[in-house]
Amino acid sequence: MNQAVTDNEALDAEARGVAQALQDAQIMVDQDTMRLILTEARTHYGWKERDVSEETLRELYDIAKMGPTSMNQQPMRIIFVRSQEAKDRLAPCLMPPNVPKMQAAPVTAIIAYDQNFWEELPKLFPPNPNASDIFRNNSTAAQINAFRNSTLQGAYVMIAARAVGLDVGAMSGFDNAKVDEEFFHGTSLKSNFLMNLGYADTTKIFRRLPRFEFEDVCQTI
Ligand SMILES: Cc1cc2nc3c(=O)[nH]c(=O)nc-3n(C[C@H](O)[C@H](O)[C@H](O)COP(=O)(O)O)c2cc1C
Repeated sequence: MNQAVTDNEALDAEARGVAQALQDAQIMVDQDTMRLILTEARTHYGWKERDVSEETLRELYDIAKMGPTSMNQQPMRIIFVRSQEAKDRLAPCLMPPNVPKMQAAPVTAIIAYDQNFWEELPKLFPPNPNASDIFRNNSTAAQINAFRNSTLQGAYVMIAARAVGLDVGAMSGFDNAKVDEEFFHGTSLKSNFLMNLGYADTTKIFRRLPRFEFEDVCQTI
């Protein structure tokens, strides 16, 4: 057997060991963690004057990057807009009510995707060495996959941000074409949505809006 095959078998065995150990540990998320990441977490609009460290941004990315994407595509790309100069470039792209929310946040992440994500598939999805061919001449499939998986990855970023103690306020009220022209001109990147990150001024939120109940939107067949 050649070396690459034995190396891969060792890696598969190691991965199965890690998965089995996780299952055996029978971990359940505790109630406080659940409150922090979803059940009591809120979308925020006002921000304290407290900076977000570069380490925290790296920590949240290192958690979020582990979330699954189809064929391990990972099409999401992020620009963390932090400087006043960059914020001022972003401001004219936003719907007016979103401008002060963005300007007050220490960081606004542009969650984007690479339309040419498929060029990386030989590295990211070695089980199928020809995976790039699925998308090379099919821009519709590439667009659907890029948008789907970058949206999923954006949600992982949101949950990861909350998990590392940040507050989050997502925004889609902006002109994608303007953001793409300003930040991604001449590239294969397109904006998906924006995400304010920081430590929230909790006086700026409103009452919780209703959620559908299980019976309203789910069925078991
Ligand atoms: C993808 C996305 C885009 C959003 N766009 C905006 C926006 O442009 N402006 C805004 O004020 N709120 C925006 N929101 C906030 C939603 O209205 C808010 O998350 C929703 O009402 C639930 O609020 P809650 O998380 O506090 O329960 C957005 C949320 C998401 C997830």
